[in-house]
Amino acid sequence: MTDKPFAVMVTGGAGYIGSHAVLALADAGWPVVVLDNLVTGFRWAVDPRATLVEGDVGDEALVGRAIGEHGIGAIMHFAGSVVVPESVKNPLKYYGNNTANSRALIAAAVAGGVRHFIFSSTAATYGVPDESPVTEATPQVPINPYGMSKLMTEIMLKDVAAAHPLNYCALRYFNVAGADPQGRSGQSTAGATHLIKVANEAATGKRGHVAIFGTDYATPDGTGVRDYIHVTDLAAAHLLALDALIADPAASHVYNCGYGRGFSVLEVLDAVERASGVTIERRMEPRRAGDPDALIAANDAIVRAFGWRPAHDDLDTIVAHALAWERHLGRRNAG
Ligand code: UD1
Repeated sequence: MTDKPFAVMVTGGAGYIGSHAVLALADAGWPVVVLDNLVTGFRWAVDPRATLVEGDVGDEALVGRAIGEHGIGAIMHFAGSVVVPESVKNPLKYYGNNTANSRALIAAAVAGGVRHFIFSSTAATYGVPDESPVTEATPQVPINPYGMSKLMTEIMLKDVAAAHPLNYCALRYFNVAGADPQGRSGQSTAGATHLIKVANEAATGKRGHVAIFGTDYATPDGTGVRDYIHVTDLAAAHLLALDALIADPAASHVYNCGYGRGFSVLEVLDAVERASGVTIERRMEPRRAGDPDALIAANDAIVRAFGWRPAHDDLDTIVAHALAWERHLGRRNAG
């Protein structure tokens, strides 16, 4: 039995960040329903304590039925497409999977009487910010369809919360990395492009080298600087957001999720070498289009509002957890 007032729907709960939110919710005693179409997620990544509904976030009838059948009172919405260069080549996929599907999900939530909505937004909504660290008041000027598709959803939520009995929290993630410290989940997507994943693939022999995209940035060592946040700390922020939305149904929130400090590409590669004991072949390559020099979150707002206390704010810890998961995946795929 649970002391919780309702069940929480987690869209994308079979994916990377969503699966960690499911762990955090279930660990805290929340009944969880995962909605996932398993296109990029994995059935095995869904915690057995959760109920899996296989289907599309854009399927309003299916979502409506699931809300009613499972007594859903809050939705955490992670499902979507996340690859920036793909969004430039195929913008309609992003406006479909991210914007239009979010609209359908929000409509089903309103119709089904769901009171609380937590949304995975992104630092990509800021584009190339002209200030660092980036605060929630920094202008949002996305430079690619991915960021725009997420910003459009933030705007929908703001308008919907003003018109209907639903409050929301949009969390703008910086660079999410790491894996569950207990080894229950991690980043499993094949062909991932993000740095810590790529570097760990190199450290475990799954790829031969790591490209360093640009060495002439306005940063201390010339390589791009990012604010890497441990996925478990991010999941914890979602639980705090849920508590806050329940405690004050009249208030909605928008917060950055990062640690407020950055590491360069070279510092990340050094950390992966330290953790793995493997020397990674580094190849200097030209800048990747659209990469800002540095992206660092001001996080005072979420710390103050939710009392968020990160437990894994340490690059070596993030890298070690990600590496442990990468090795686990290697054994899994071999077995
Ligand atoms: C990431 C997210 C994006 C999110 C953004 C918010 C991914 C794939 N992208 O983008 O969805 O909106 O954070 O901050 O998770 N780099 C290399 N070599 C590589 C890969 C990366 O040098 O092989 C460099 C990049 O140029 C950049 C840094 O490493 O300077 C981080 O890149 P990446 O991990 O791809 O994340 P972002 O592009 O920052």
